[in-house]
Amino acid sequence: MIFGVDYYPEHWDRSEWEAQADLMKEGGFNTVRMGEFAWKLVEREEGNFDFSLFDEVIDILAARGIKTIFSTPTAAPPKWLVNKYDVLQRDKYGRKKGWGARRECCANNPDYIKKSEIIAEETAKHYADNKNVIAWQIDNEFGCHASTHCYCEHCRKEFAKWLKEKYGTIENLNEKWGGAFWSLDYDSFDDVILPAYNSCEPPSGNLWSHNPALDLEYRRFSSDSWVKYQKRQIDILRKYTSAAITHNLMGHFSDINAFDLSRELDFVSWDNYPENQWGASEHEYVSMAHEIMRGAKNKNFVVMEEQAGPAGWDFVGRSPRPGELRLWTYQALAHGAEGIVYFRFRTALKGMEQYWYGVTDHDGVPRRRFFELQRTAKELHSIEKYIIGARTHYDALVVKSYDNAWGHAIKRHSRNYDYENHIYSFYKANNDLNVNTAVSRAADYEKYKVVYMPAYNIITDGEAKEAEEYVKNGGNLVLTFRSGGRDEYNAVRPLRLPGVFAETAGIEAVEFDAPPRSVPVCGEINGEARIWCDIIEPNGAKTLSYYDDEYYRGKAAITVNEYGKGRVYYVGCDLNDAAVKELVRIVSKSAGIDVKDAPDGVEIIRKTSPEGDYTVLLNYNERETETGIKGESLISGNKFNGKIAPLGAEIIRES
Ligand code: GAL
Repeated sequence: MIFGVDYYPEHWDRSEWEAQADLMKEGGFNTVRMGEFAWKLVEREEGNFDFSLFDEVIDILAARGIKTIFSTPTAAPPKWLVNKYDVLQRDKYGRKKGWGARRECCANNPDYIKKSEIIAEETAKHYADNKNVIAWQIDNEFGCHASTHCYCEHCRKEFAKWLKEKYGTIENLNEKWGGAFWSLDYDSFDDVILPAYNSCEPPSGNLWSHNPALDLEYRRFSSDSWVKYQKRQIDILRKYTSAAITHNLMGHFSDINAFDLSRELDFVSWDNYPENQWGASEHEYVSMAHEIMRGAKNKNFVVMEEQAGPAGWDFVGRSPRPGELRLWTYQALAHGAEGIVYFRFRTALKGMEQYWYGVTDHDGVPRRRFFELQRTAKELHSIEKYIIGARTHYDALVVKSYDNAWGHAIKRHSRNYDYENHIYSFYKANNDLNVNTAVSRAADYEKYKVVYMPAYNIITDGEAKEAEEYVKNGGNLVLTFRSGGRDEYNAVRPLRLPGVFAETAGIEAVEFDAPPRSVPVCGEINGEARIWCDIIEPNGAKTLSYYDDEYYRGKAAITVNEYGKGRVYYVGCDLNDAAVKELVRIVSKSAGIDVKDAPDGVEIIRKTSPEGDYTVLLNYNERETETGIKGESLISGNKFNGKIAPLGAEIIRES
């Protein structure tokens, strides 16, 4: 299995490479990812290519049994490129972006595309036959540093073509977009504007005053632009090499559609930083990020950058506590990682990331973090057969939809509404109840006992049909407020609420309220609604909970409807975490899922591998915790009596 480090030989004197490679070997690292920001180094001036620096390092590493994942370096365009060609993005105010960080170029800029293709081709040609290059990474973190959207003339022209291909005629577009509203009909595709700044936008920058259809299509187009940009490089690489190709994605990041971006990749990889300058993530949030990345291709993945030390750009976040690097590693494996690469081997002395600590500090001396990973490497190499090809038994699916992430960002429904938080609340509740939960696109429902489709507001007729079939055949579908109300053009459907789901849910949401203060919700699920209350008239459905305040006191808030052989739950309001957990408990139990509260701060994941079933236990507490699970530790071979060490991770064969 890949157990590696991200390495930047170009940051170190040549005289240090061998000692660094020796130390990697001593640490148990067998893979290095490099090259992703080295454009200027390998093409010092236009058309002059020189890979000798990396050739030498790859050989030094290989002599110690360490293989290389090489990257195309297109994330960091050199200055000669931006001097000669006008490749920089334009922001929504029309301003040219500055150079000096990375990711400044436009995916639709013909010169950037051409230069990217050339450097990708030269790199591919150069390393295609190098047996020590075992995989490829394209570019680095598409969309990072708010670089998904560009408002330049190239984008405008490409957008026009993209729309023409999709809509065929401008009359069709006008009709779908509702151009009659405010006289926005276009005469040609070339007329279509980008949803850039216009004077109606308030200084807070929160609201758009553009047609929501235009805005949604532009977000789809921008995402597609990077998918297409990536595809050009993939095609070039495939001409020369059969080695696996990946890109390092960003977990919860939603500006680019991860399903689309990973379609052409052999495997997904991603970058995981649970605790840094910008704060710490709840462990369930990190687990969900892993699941999103697994769900992107419904396939195991690699963590290409895993936090290895205290991290920050201007100041550091908390130092990983003893045991935590190992714990994060097992957390990744439990949620579908088959390989892990730590960022970075040695902390940089110069440049932006002086405070983004790696496996070793600035002086390169191995200390606590190095030794912890060294021990982890030994463990993992001994249990590798359980990790490669392992699968999780999923009982539930939380649907993530990029169209809906964008649609809800364009029209938020109520002041504090946040789609990402909303879907997270359902993942978190499932995780806390030990329900193995996948996060993926709206598809393959029949694999799951329960499907959560929170706030699925933009929905195609086909998707609605599939969801209905799933329920008819015995599935359990959970919908929440604002589901089913819009079509794929971001137009509101002329239907009673909840739109395409009104019949399957057996209700009508006759009114709604975005309440100024919390409204108690009582019944089988007790809690409070804070941002939204659908006022529901059951139409065959049974009421599970009702509101206990406001003019809609006594009206249904949460319902369940028997439909075909299955059930549709409709949650008409947002709920606090404890209430979501109660709801998930009720839904899961009635779907025949074995629910158990995990002890606080403990995660339990049941896996299947070619070597048999096992259970991963993860303890995020800084104290020993009783898990109630007994068996044999596959890591130590000892009996496991149920108590897991502080910040501990165990792999158990349950008895
Ligand atoms: C990632 C990026 C790395 C490095 C790291 C720490 O997002 O891919 O190159 O910048 O963050 O900031």
